[in-house]
Order: sequence, then C-alpha cells, then structure tokens
Amino acid sequence: MWLQDFSTWLAATPASLFIQATDAIIPAVQTIHILCIAVVISAVLLVHLHTLGIAMRSQSGAALAKRFFPWLWWALALLLLSGTILIIAEPDRSLSNWVFQLKMLLVIAAVVLTFLFQQPLRKDPDYWQKSAARRTNAGAIAIVSLCVWVGIVFAGRWIAYAIAY
Ligand code: HEM
Repeated sequence: MWLQDFSTWLAATPASLFIQATDAIIPAVQTIHILCIAVVISAVLLVHLHTLGIAMRSQSGAALAKRFFPWLWWALALLLLSGTILIIAEPDRSLSNWVFQLKMLLVIAAVVLTFLFQQPLRKDPDYWQKSAARRTNAGAIAIVSLCVWVGIVFAGRWIAYAIAY
C-alpha cells in the first residue's frame, strides 16, 4: 500500500506535473529508452552468439566482450535514467505494476549474469576456454543471459497491458 501512496505523491510533485504538461517529453524519453534497448540487445547478441559458437567466430570472446560490453553498460545507465523519468512522469503505470516489478528483478539478474561473464575475462582473456567445464558454464551463462534480456524486453512492452488502475 505504501507503494501506492508513494506513487500518488510522486505523480503530484512539480517534476511529474511538468513532464505531464509537456507533450514532447514522454515520447522523446521513450525514444531514448528504445534506442538504448537496441544497443544493449545488440551487444549481448554479438558477445553471446559468439560464446555459443554461432557468430563472429574469427574473433576471441574476450575481444568481443571488451569491445561491446562498455556499450551495454553505458546504454544500461541511460535506460536507468530514461526509465526513472518515465516513472516520475506516470508512476501509476509502473511502480505497483507486477510486470514492472518482474522486469526490475530480471534487470538485476541480467546485470549479475553479465558481470559474472565479463569479470574473469578482465584478468584472463582465455578464462572461459581453459576447460570443458568452463566452456559449458560460459554457454549456460550465455543462454540464460539471452533469455533474461529478451524477457526484459517482453516485460517492458507488457507493462502497458498490465496496469492496475
Ligand atoms: C534499468 C532500469 C529500467 C527502468 C527503471 C525502466 C523503466 C521503464 C518504464 C517506466 C517504462 C514505461 C512502461 C509503460 O509505462 O508502458 C519502460 C518501458 C520499456 N522498457 Fe524499460 N526500464 C529499464 C530498463 C530496461 C531494459 C534494460 C530494457 C531492455 C533491454 C527495457 C525495455 C523496455 C521496453 C521494451 C519498454 C516498452 C517501450 C515502449 O513500448 O514504449 N527497459 N521501461
């Protein structure tokens, strides 16, 4: 219930009222959100389709992660910022919405999985290649990670259809 109260309070703040009264802000912020989704998904696909042996096989996994994951982290920061503006604008659409809450849990899971994959490569670029067990683990992280990121996109779109006014 406190979430509903917070949502009602947030919707009446000057920042929220300003965004609500300015037609172009929400479409502009949504556009930024969608462009950043494209960047995140492209980075994850490029790195993990390689991990699964499907794409970019002439390059090393460490080189791909080093090249594309910084794009992912920067885009994620912009997603957090643009998502926060969307919440401030229309808190009732998201905060108490179970699909939004699920999406946030999936975002945390995706961040943890991406970190778990990237971190060992910083010290040892061949880390995931050094044994059959590590190759299996990398493949498992890649598959789960891809599913979770796609789940986030699905949940993001679903929010609008699960609003509990
Ligand atoms: C990091 C924190 C994030 C926050 C706080 C956030 C928040 C939001 C909010 C509030 C909306 C508007 C929902 C609505 O009112 O209909 C939204 C839409 C959406 N989000 Fe996020 N989001 C975040 C990250 C992401 C990520 C990482 C992805 C996917 C990779 C994503 C995918 C989407 C999609 C597909 C939509 C629907 C866009 C549309 O149809 O206009 N979001 N997000």
